[in-house]
Amino acid sequence: MSYENILVNSSNGITTITINRPSKLNALNQETIKELHDAFKEADEDSDTLVIIITGSGEKAFVAGADISEFADYSVSQGERLASQGQALLFDFVAHLSTPVIAAINGFALGGGLELAMSAHFRIASDNAKMGLPEVSLGVIPGYGGTQRLPQLVGKGRAMEMIMTAGMITAETAKEYALVNHVTTLEELLPLAEKLAGKIKRNSPAAITSAINAINAGFEDGENGFDTEITEFGKCFGTADFKEGTQAFLEKRKPEFSGK
Ligand code: COA
Repeated sequence: MSYENILVNSSNGITTITINRPSKLNALNQETIKELHDAFKEADEDSDTLVIIITGSGEKAFVAGADISEFADYSVSQGERLASQGQALLFDFVAHLSTPVIAAINGFALGGGLELAMSAHFRIASDNAKMGLPEVSLGVIPGYGGTQRLPQLVGKGRAMEMIMTAGMITAETAKEYALVNHVTTLEELLPLAEKLAGKIKRNSPAAITSAINAINAGFEDGENGFDTEITEFGKCFGTADFKEGTQAFLEKRKPEFSGK
């Protein structure tokens, strides 16, 4: 598939999706959200893709937010639709993918940009990165899951402060808050993401999907994460990956997982 606003590159089991609107600091317009949906869907359905990395092009921004020029004159119902469609198409979609997603935050991750990074399964950042949810400075609130995922990651008090002040935090503070797992230089950001992806790739794709489902369940309304863990744990015993993983251990060799 060819895209206007994103670049997609696959090699060695890793698909890297790069948001590519540097002149607008990679702001997410509706077209880009649709393209990202398609690219994530295609990568998730591709059995050769074992890990997805999402990043931004250029040295300044991961994503500087939703494209403000698109929604400045929206009505109440249009605003609601913007949030619900965006959540379904991209943010919830990414959070629930069966393929692991790493966000490599290479600069500003603001508003929808930070919300996209928080939808990924975990995040790393370059030392020039700045993160925040500045929506209240525009008279609106985060609408792509930010009011839910930020407190889940950093705690309620810190999320309240970040959202109410509309301020930006540095990569180091984001690490201290556990919003990102690692901070490195801009040059080392993608190599680090690929190194982490390399470690993930060695393991059973089927078991990783089960782990994503079980971890996510603890954050879903009306779901009991412990019950989901029991179901997913049981499911693993019916997979070829489990047979291969245990057999390989007993035979003192490296497993070759099929993901089935
Ligand atoms: N939506 C639409 N366009 C955006 C954008 C956004 N969220 N963020 C940046 N841009 C555009 C700017 O309008 C500008 O376009 P132009 O050159 O056609 O005028 C271009 O990207 C460069 O941004 P600029 O503001 O000139 O860069 P800067 O280095 O001075 O400031 C930021 C960088 C990130 C501090 C600033 O762009 C900003 O505050 N952006 C909005 C952040 C935000 O509120 N996001 C939440 C949206 S809900």
